[in-house]
Amino acid sequence: MKEKELQKLFQSLTLKEKIGQLVQLSGEFFGSVDEVSTGPAKKMGIHPEMVSLAGSVLNVAGAKSVISIQKSYLERSQHKIPLLFMGDIVYGYRTILPIPLGQGATWNPELIQENYNNIGMEASKAGIDVTFSPMVDLVRDPRWGRCLESTGEDPFLNSQFAAAVIKGFQGNLTVNNVATCVKHFAAYGATEGGREYNTVDMSERRLRQDYLPSYKAAVEAGSKLVMTSFNTLDGIPATANKWLLDEILRKEWGFDGVIITDYAAIHELIAHGVAQDEKEAAQLAINATVDIDMKTSCYANQLEPLVREGKIDNELINQAAWRILCLKNELGLFENPYRGASINEEKFMHTDESRTKALQASRESIVLLKNENNILPLDVKKSKIAVIGPYTNSKSIVGMWSFHGKQDEFTSIQDAFEKLDTHNIKFAKGCDYLEDYSILGSFGKMLNPSNESTLDMEQQTLQAVKLVEQSDLVVLALGEHMLQSGEAGSRTELELPRVQKKLLDTVAKTGKPIVLVLFSGRPLVLTNIEKQVDAILQVWFPGSEGGQAIVDVLTGKFNPSGRLTMSFPYSVGQVPLYYNSFNTGRPISTSQHSDRFLSRYLDAPNGPLYPFGYGLSYTKYEYANLSLSSEILNDETTITISVDIQNSGSKAGIETVQLYIQDKIGSVVRPVKELKGFKRVFLQPGEIKKVIFEVNEEMLRFYDKNLCYQSEKGDFRVFVGHSSQEYLEADFTLI
Ligand code: GLC
Repeated sequence: MKEKELQKLFQSLTLKEKIGQLVQLSGEFFGSVDEVSTGPAKKMGIHPEMVSLAGSVLNVAGAKSVISIQKSYLERSQHKIPLLFMGDIVYGYRTILPIPLGQGATWNPELIQENYNNIGMEASKAGIDVTFSPMVDLVRDPRWGRCLESTGEDPFLNSQFAAAVIKGFQGNLTVNNVATCVKHFAAYGATEGGREYNTVDMSERRLRQDYLPSYKAAVEAGSKLVMTSFNTLDGIPATANKWLLDEILRKEWGFDGVIITDYAAIHELIAHGVAQDEKEAAQLAINATVDIDMKTSCYANQLEPLVREGKIDNELINQAAWRILCLKNELGLFENPYRGASINEEKFMHTDESRTKALQASRESIVLLKNENNILPLDVKKSKIAVIGPYTNSKSIVGMWSFHGKQDEFTSIQDAFEKLDTHNIKFAKGCDYLEDYSILGSFGKMLNPSNESTLDMEQQTLQAVKLVEQSDLVVLALGEHMLQSGEAGSRTELELPRVQKKLLDTVAKTGKPIVLVLFSGRPLVLTNIEKQVDAILQVWFPGSEGGQAIVDVLTGKFNPSGRLTMSFPYSVGQVPLYYNSFNTGRPISTSQHSDRFLSRYLDAPNGPLYPFGYGLSYTKYEYANLSLSSEILNDETTITISVDIQNSGSKAGIETVQLYIQDKIGSVVRPVKELKGFKRVFLQPGEIKKVIFEVNEEMLRFYDKNLCYQSEKGDFRVFVGHSSQEYLEADFTLI
């Protein structure tokens, strides 16, 4: 509707009706009214009247349910303001993409954007208006289970993917699109100890330099909502942090959209110890300009008394309610409260088009970490192959945030192998994912699959080893359990589950060549395992087409092009570990001190086992002729950097050429290198291509000692190469 009409509607609302718009409840509140008053409303301690005034619904999906709830809600609604349906469609609805840590490894934001356009269409047909995605938290600590949802450790790369996901989901905000809610604002990935929901504390410089850029990119890409994070920043929980939400997000960045809390985060201000009770919690949050209270009674019960007692200005409520009405209006809800919801939603789900795009994303997400003696790709016509491990025929290959997927629509490794025209491949599970499911808490008991097989673990392993002995080589499909990562999936040890390590040790004793296909939601510590196997494919949780993508890579149908976007540590004791670190005053490489008094460990190297940007291919790429159009740059000019890349191998492939820059001297210490650009190039065997980058003064800006965002004259180094550790280099000066 026109803004004038919206203003008129807004003016007609009572304070209570405006507060209702600020309340988000989950589906059980929208059954029949009397159920509500005795059930969930009573449990949550809110008045049933507030349910009929609530502005949005959490995690209800499916056109039938959405249409029915919306219809009965509007029938009872005096002002006919439709509900907003919001949900966690993080990296898939019925078509499930690789987890974002795998999406990042594609270094292909364009492909990811196309995929999210399909995911958004599926979600909108299921009645979703807003998705709680993308999660753009920068991560440097693989102990944190939510690495899974991030595209990694680099601000520049994360910003590219943040924008791509938002453009994919939001499109032109038609009924086939959904609005995005970027999360978790801010710096949730820096949680101390990698422990879920823990404290975050850092300098404003580090926050602005490393952790905020991806959220800023999301706001600039037009995300309609932002979700506050559970953590504190400088001692104040994000949900009550006026400096973060009002000063930075709204005033400095110009964000005029809706801020929603994470689940029950306003009430958690009490546990944090910044609020005495729900009233004070509500007061802190509304003062910080939080618009929607997800699933607590704080706003529902306390905002009106706070206004009445003169403790808050009701203008804060007006502004929040107005932003929410504007979002509903922008989504066209007043004209069509059901938007994309389609009772024929099934025909829009898991289509060939979305499966094809998802398969390509899965293929490109896979990272080849090791390929001793070029054991890969496999020749399934000649070699007798044993495929062993709990992931051999597993459909639990989609990670935690994918509860709308249907397992019978997922492709396992065995499904994909069985489509091949060969009888040379035999399959056995060999062992369960875990030896003890109780570590997964209440989830664990219901998930224990050991009742799936009539054989006990010993028997399963013996059966598998017999297969191995009859084969020429082994594909071992292993990995952490799907619920060992994701939200509340923090771990202090990053090894394979013991029962799987035992299977690997048993298989290794046979002396057969081993190809390890590794499933995980984070970097695991592979230092010991790496010595026992001939090849390693890091497949993350590859999504609903994952089994096909893995077999396409194993058989060479697709030449792996994935590159890591998060460092794989040599030891968990190194964490946090990231490529764009500072040199320190005693760098191991150049310090003049004795070999003891250096920035180093006694029992491990400083660097990762596998670095940021790393990934192998079935072919070889050679870099030559790095040249700069000039060695001098000023505020007005650009330097053109060119390099020749040759595919000197026998297979066509995609190489991701990476551009890093080091600011050698600054008014504050500067990272040893920072990613500033990347280009993917397809090369036939023998083909040479020239790849060009442009560098300008703006790319050299950073937060200086006065926290001003600007460049400083001086010497710089460029690195152009295959990863953060393999490159050609040259120097230039900013004058
Ligand atoms: C969860 C997560 C957040 C999610 C929200 C709603 O606790 O932290 O990412 O969007 O609750 O389910």
